[in-house]
Amino acid sequence: MNVLTGRRILVGVSGGIAAYKTPELVRELRRAGAEVQVVMTRSAAQFVTATSLQAVSGNPVRDTLWDPAAEAQMGHIELARWADLILIAPATADRLARLAHGFADDLLGAICLASTAPIALAPAMNHVMWQAPATRRNLELLAADGVHLIGPEVGDQACGETGPGRMSEPADLARAVTELLAQGLEGTARAPVHSIGQNQPLLGHHVVITAGPTREAIDPVRFISNHSSGKQGYALAAAALAAGARVTLISGPVAESVPVGVTLVAVESARDMHAAALTAAPGSDLFIAVAAVADYRPSTVAEQKIKKTDRKESGLSLELVENPDIVAAVAALPDAPVVVGFAAETHDALAHARGKLSRKGLDAIVVNDVSRQDIGFGTDENAATLIWADGEITLPKQSKADLSRAILDTLIELFMPRFVRQLANTNPDNAAK
Ligand SMILES: Cc1cc2nc3c(=O)[nH]c(=O)nc-3n(C[C@H](O)[C@H](O)[C@H](O)COP(=O)(O)O)c2cc1C
Repeated sequence: MNVLTGRRILVGVSGGIAAYKTPELVRELRRAGAEVQVVMTRSAAQFVTATSLQAVSGNPVRDTLWDPAAEAQMGHIELARWADLILIAPATADRLARLAHGFADDLLGAICLASTAPIALAPAMNHVMWQAPATRRNLELLAADGVHLIGPEVGDQACGETGPGRMSEPADLARAVTELLAQGLEGTARAPVHSIGQNQPLLGHHVVITAGPTREAIDPVRFISNHSSGKQGYALAAAALAAGARVTLISGPVAESVPVGVTLVAVESARDMHAAALTAAPGSDLFIAVAAVADYRPSTVAEQKIKKTDRKESGLSLELVENPDIVAAVAALPDAPVVVGFAAETHDALAHARGKLSRKGLDAIVVNDVSRQDIGFGTDENAATLIWADGEITLPKQSKADLSRAILDTLIELFMPRFVRQLANTNPDNAAK
């Protein structure tokens, strides 16, 4: 049985040119067995008629809060409760702003605010509108609220320009909605999923990435840390997001900006990162440990700033104790995801990395030579070798974004059967498919 059979999908339509695709979307959803109720905004009526949407949905279209007859039959609160999922397609820039700020001055806004169902948005707008700082801010708020984004895609736009902002095609939207419902998200806390059009092998999968350095406090103002910039981990988070994954990024303090749609867990010390990883990793599909975690921390943290006058004749000695091994702890979990480590080495890189792979029970390890000035810490480029139990691949020097895509592509090729099994394990609907 299709995941959509009998599921109640409320399709919101806002006022963008892509609304001409919405009747086809409604048909796709109904063909897959879903029950569809369309709610359109006032502006949407400029682009598509209620008559068409009523014909394809098989239900009268709702378009205003102020319709006593419709309210008496199924009020906006009942509509909000009725929905298993709300999909707004197209979602205009204006709609994103209204949703982000909780406006309830029209029917669609009131329903979204009154519903606990997952909300998915298929944005469609001119590429400058999509990249505008206000839209970015609104998307960040929506992502933090757990609203799902499907698309937009990059391509030709109605305005004659090319860029990101094209609504995903109806078939892709229907597929993404199926994945969301297959995850059994309804009735649970919302969790952000971002997906961009086609080529989303990780849609429906959860990837957890650690990035950046950790800081190990010596006293209230001093710490031990390292040169990690977080660039490689953040690039991997963006690549996993673009591949359709839900991404949790556990990051030490860095200057990088978090890709919109990624859930950030900000941490400072190795022990914070260890706790965050053990919270996020269970149930995830892929755990990639890119962070440069401090191996040691001071055994005690001075409560007050250590003064020069406090030091002894022999100077100041710090006693260090070992930090927990985060990647090994995740690999040792009973239902461990696929676990990938990163090794920054300065000599005998491949031999050290192979040792680490087996010692820590990892599925794969990415090794890079940080003794080279042109790659590694703080640079925009990197080269690496990805090693797994019975193979390895050398990835030549390239941008950290390209390298991230190459790493992910290889991991998907190697481990996809395990991701699928994990999705099936956690999801009875999928196991039956
Ligand atoms: C011809 C025309 C096309 C438009 N296309 C879009 C669009 O594709 N995306 C968008 O965000 N806004 C678009 N707008 C602007 C929205 O219609 C406008 O912001 C409106 O207030 C959206 O209201 P709603 O979100 O309540 O539907 C368009 C406006 C016009 C006049």
